[in-house]
Amino acid sequence: MSQRLRGELAVITGASSGIGAAIARELGALGLRLALIARREERLAEVCAQVAELGGEAWPYPVDIRNSEALENTLSKIQSEHGDARVIINNAGLGHSAPLTSGVTAHWREMLEVNVLALCVCTREVTAQMRESGDWGQVIHISSMSAHRVPEGSGVYSATKFAVRSLTEGLRKELRELKSHIRVTAISPGFVETEFAAHYHRSEERAKEIYNAYPVMSAEDVARQVHFVLTQPPHVQVHDMLSRPTQQLT
Ligand SMILES: NC(=O)c1ccc[n+]([C@@H]2O[C@H](COP(=O)([O-])OP(=O)(O)OC[C@H]3O[C@@H](n4cnc5c(N)ncnc54)[C@H](OP(=O)(O)O)[C@@H]3O)[C@@H](O)[C@H]2O)c1
Repeated sequence: MSQRLRGELAVITGASSGIGAAIARELGALGLRLALIARREERLAEVCAQVAELGGEAWPYPVDIRNSEALENTLSKIQSEHGDARVIINNAGLGHSAPLTSGVTAHWREMLEVNVLALCVCTREVTAQMRESGDWGQVIHISSMSAHRVPEGSGVYSATKFAVRSLTEGLRKELRELKSHIRVTAISPGFVETEFAAHYHRSEERAKEIYNAYPVMSAEDVARQVHFVLTQPPHVQVHDMLSRPTQQLT
C-alpha cells in the first residue's frame, strides 16, 4: 500500500501544530504530497519546511475552517493546483473547558463547527474527488478516547467526538452502499502532549501538570498509528484505534 500511495495527494487539517504537524512529517517521509490546512500561516510554512527536509513536498493553505465557504474554496484551490486528493486526515480540532451547566455558547459552537461540521465538509469534498479518480483512498478522522467515555466537565467536547464516531460508521455504510473502495478510519487517542491542554484549560501551568504527571503519548505516537492504517493492504480497513498512555486511568 505504501508504494501505491507514493506521489498521491493527502490533505491534512490542523497541520500547524501537534498531531497534525507530526502526521505531515510522517506522510511526507512516506512519499505523499501534502496540502496542509490551518489558520496560522507561519506555522504551516515551518511544517512545510520540515517535510521538505525529510525529502517530501508540502504546501500551506491557511484558512479558518469554521467558514464553510472559505473551506470549500480552499479545497477546490488545492484540487486545481495539485489534482485529486487520495487521503484526507480530518485532524483539526479543539476542546474548551465549557461545562453544560455554565459553559459559554461561543465555546460550544466553536467545538461543534471545527470538530464536527468542518470534518463533514472536508469528507464530502475530498471523497467526491477520490470517487472521480478510481474510487479508492483513505479518510482518517482524528477522534479521541472522549468518543468512548465522558470525562468530567467535558460533555460538549465528548459530544463532538461521539459525533465523529457516528460519522465514521455512517460514512463506512454509505461507501459500502456505493460499492466504493474508499476506506474510513477513526483514531482515538488518550492524552497526547500538544497545544491542546493549554488551550482547553486556558493555562500553560495546568497543561504542564497534566503532561508531567506520567509519560503521556507524543504526537509522533499518533502519526505512527496513521502510518499503520494507511499501509494496510487494500482489503483491510481499520475501523477505530483506541489507545491511552499506559498510566492514564480515565
Ligand atoms: N492532545 C490530546 O490529548 C488529544 C487527545 C485525543 C484527541 N485529540 C485530537 O487531536 C486533534 C489535534 O489536536 P492536537 O492535540 O494536535 O492539538 P493542537 O496542537 O492544539 O492542534 C490543533 C490544530 O487544529 C487547528 N485548528 C483549530 N481550530 C481551527 C480552525 N478554526 N481553522 C483551522 N484550523 C484549526 C490548529 O491550527 P491553527 O490554530 O493554526 O488554526 C491546530 O493545527 C484534535 O482533533 C483533538 O481533538 C487530541
